[in-house]
Amino acid sequence: MAITDVSILQRYIRMCNDGWLQGWHERNGGNLTYRLTDAEVAELQPYFDETPRPWVPMGVTGANLAGSYFLSTGSGKYFRNVILDPADSLCVVEINEKGDSYRIVWGLVNGGRPTSEFPSHFMNHSVRVKATGGACRVIYHAHPGNLIAMTYVLPLTDRDFSRELWKSATECPVVFPGGVGVVGWMVPGGAEIALATSKKMEEFDAAVWAHHGLFVSGPDFDTTFGLMHTIEKSAEIWVKAHSVGLPILQTIEDDDLRAIAREFGVQLREEFLD
Ligand code: 13P
Ligand code: ZN
Repeated sequence: MAITDVSILQRYIRMCNDGWLQGWHERNGGNLTYRLTDAEVAELQPYFDETPRPWVPMGVTGANLAGSYFLSTGSGKYFRNVILDPADSLCVVEINEKGDSYRIVWGLVNGGRPTSEFPSHFMNHSVRVKATGGACRVIYHAHPGNLIAMTYVLPLTDRDFSRELWKSATECPVVFPGGVGVVGWMVPGGAEIALATSKKMEEFDAAVWAHHGLFVSGPDFDTTFGLMHTIEKSAEIWVKAHSVGLPILQTIEDDDLRAIAREFGVQLREEFLD
């Protein structure tokens, strides 16, 4: 048996490859983290390094994640290569007892560190774990082209993006009834953008990064990948409808959104409706 026979690692690798196949991960774009259960840590433990690598401060603190273990993509690693050589592209990190540092316990066998967005992932995990009573396990960042295009032409508000995305495909209000948060353009990769994003993630399970991409969260790979996929599909329809050169003649009206919410038993964010 090898570590790649462990189910959680197989499912994590599949998600990386699915994102690559969608075209959301040019070069080293995007990153994925998963908060392991105790049982999954026990399954992976036999493959951990004899000596863990040194502790690295993250510049942010998530006390509720002290002692947790995460699977993470490596910084500068390409999603298209994950399936070929997981031990080169991925790592398992352990969080210290203060919740402010990590150390690598497996992977990145040719050197490297977890994604440069690890502070954002970590803070998003911290607030989503709180917001979901412990259910959230996956944080996923990708560079989906149509959604990024929308950030050049729409006002960068939670309300504008949520409304346009809800109205671009009928299933959207069912999949993300809480809407999406929007973070204005910031320098990626540090504590500042991590704190701004996690502030949005207190309320939303998806946060748009202007001119950069999208962060989504969820309890498992299917739900989280599905959220990224649904939001980007909606953005694709929006971009197509607005670039075909004809006026928009009809759309899903606000009362239609209310009717969908009633029928599907979801609570839409009322302040986003007219
Ligand atoms: P990493 O290669 O460090 O994960 O960075 C990719 C990225 O998308 C930065 O936002
Ligand atoms: Zn990015």
